[in-house]
Amino acid sequence: MPDITLITADGQVHGFEAPEGVSLMAAATGAGVPGIVAECGGQLRCATCHVIVDPAWVDHLPPPTSDEQAMLELTAVPRESGSRLSCQIVLTPDLQGLLVQVPERQY
Ligand code: FES
Repeated sequence: MPDITLITADGQVHGFEAPEGVSLMAAATGAGVPGIVAECGGQLRCATCHVIVDPAWVDHLPPPTSDEQAMLELTAVPRESGSRLSCQIVLTPDLQGLLVQVPERQY
């Protein structure tokens, strides 16, 4: 059960334990973290689950697929080097301590 920390655009820190094997999107929305809309429910069709992975963690994640790359071009706020779609990040023990930011808006 990795411990995950999300920081919302207003600076609030949301820390929670997440089950392994679920997406960061599912874990965050299940924990009630605001700011992740996930309109398509994880089907890689909306880009409203955008998060910005802390630079220290970017290399711990598998690189985005070409489909995720394409959807990252459609985020509401400009894409950053750590931008990912949280529905495509599967939580594993290696991600213990993962730190991500939630952008100020998803639309
Ligand atoms: S929830 Fe729609 S792309 Fe991630």
